[in-house]
Amino acid sequence: METTFSAIKADVGSVAGHHVVPEELEESAISVLEEAKGKDIFDYFVTHCGDDLELIITHDKGEESEEVYEIAWNAFLKATEKAKELGLYGAGQDLLSDAFSGNIKGLGPGIAEMEFKERKSNPVFTFMMDKTEPGAFNLPMYKIFADPFNTAGLVLDPNMHSGFVFEVWDIKESKKINFYCPDDLYDMLALIGAKSRYVIKRAYPKEDNPKANPQEPAAVISTEKLSHIAGEYVGKDDPVAVVRGQSGLPAAGEILEPFTHPELVSGWMKGSHNGPLMPVPVEDAAPTRFDGPPRAICLGFQVKDGMLIGPVDSFADPAFDKAREKAHQVSDYMRAHGPFEPHRLPEEEMEYTTLPDVMEKINHRFEDMD
Ligand code: F6R
Ligand code: MG
Ligand code: MG
Repeated sequence: METTFSAIKADVGSVAGHHVVPEELEESAISVLEEAKGKDIFDYFVTHCGDDLELIITHDKGEESEEVYEIAWNAFLKATEKAKELGLYGAGQDLLSDAFSGNIKGLGPGIAEMEFKERKSNPVFTFMMDKTEPGAFNLPMYKIFADPFNTAGLVLDPNMHSGFVFEVWDIKESKKINFYCPDDLYDMLALIGAKSRYVIKRAYPKEDNPKANPQEPAAVISTEKLSHIAGEYVGKDDPVAVVRGQSGLPAAGEILEPFTHPELVSGWMKGSHNGPLMPVPVEDAAPTRFDGPPRAICLGFQVKDGMLIGPVDSFADPAFDKAREKAHQVSDYMRAHGPFEPHRLPEEEMEYTTLPDVMEKINHRFEDMD
C-alpha cells in the first residue's frame, strides 16, 4: 500500500507575541481535518512548535496533491479567522495570499512530504523547529545518513553499508545536485556547511540497499524560503522534516542522536541571530528568552494502513537534559555579544531583515574617503 505522509506548517498567530499557538487555533485546524478524515485523507495529527501550527496528514494522493493542500489551506484559514477574532499576534502571517489557487507552495506554508510503500512496520519521525531556518537540518541529516560516529548502522548493518544519496538545493540560484555518500562526502560538506544557501532537501537509500526502495526518500525537509517569497521580512521559515527509520534505514536512536549537540543555527530574535538549537518536549516548545533560543521537537509515529499510531514525544527523554543544559550555557555566552557578530548574523544574511531600513536612514551621512 502506498501512503503519503505530509507535514505542513504555518504561523497564523500566537499568544503573547511570536510565542505559542493556543489550543483554540489547534481546535480550529482539527475541525477542518476531522471533516476530511476517512474521505480525502486517512488520518491527521495537529500540534505546534512555538508560534507554528503543525499539521501532520496521511493520505493516498501522492506529493503535491491539490486536494490535500486545499484541506491544509482551509485548516490554516480557519485558524487564522480564530486568531483574528482573538486578536492574536501575527494573525494570518504566513498566508501570503487571500485565495488558494491549487498549490500551497509559494503561498507561505512550509511542507515536507514523502510517498512510500508501507513496509511491515513503518516508524516515521516528524521534526519541527521554531525560530530558525531549513539549513538547521543540514548538520543532523548529515550525521544521521553519513556519519558513522553517529549512525552505527553505516558500519554494522550490511543493508546501509554502501551509504545514502543526498539531494542538496542551492536556494539562492534555484539549482540542485545529488551527492552519493560516502564517495562525495567532502564535496557535499564543502557546500552544506553554508547552511543559509545550500540545504539538504532529501536523503535516499542507495540502489543496493535490499530493505529500502531507492526511489523513496528516507528523509525530506521543508525548504520554502518565506522571506524570499514575501520579498520582505515576515519571520524565519521555521522548518519541518520527516524521517523514516529502522530495518535497513537508520534506527530511531540514530535519528535522534544528533540533537544531543545543540548546534548553532540562525534565527532567534528577529531571525537575525545565531543561537543554540534546543531539543525539547512539545510542552516546552515555547521560546521566550530573547524570543528563543531556537527549539526542535520530534514526534515519533508508527504508520499502519495509512493510520497514525502514537505519537511519542521523542525529546521528552531525560537523555536530552544535558543538551538542554548546554544550550542554556551557549545562550548566555552568545547573548553576551549583544549586537556583535557572530551572535548577530553576518551582513549578507541581514539583507532580508529589518536592518536595511535602518541603514537607509544613515546612508546619506556617509562621505567618500580620499
Ligand atoms: C523571529 C521572530 C521574532 C520577531 C520579533 C519581532 O523569527 O518571529 O523574534 O522577529 O518578536 O517581531 P515584530 O517585528 O512582529 O514585533
Ligand atoms: Mg510568529
Ligand atoms: Mg515560528
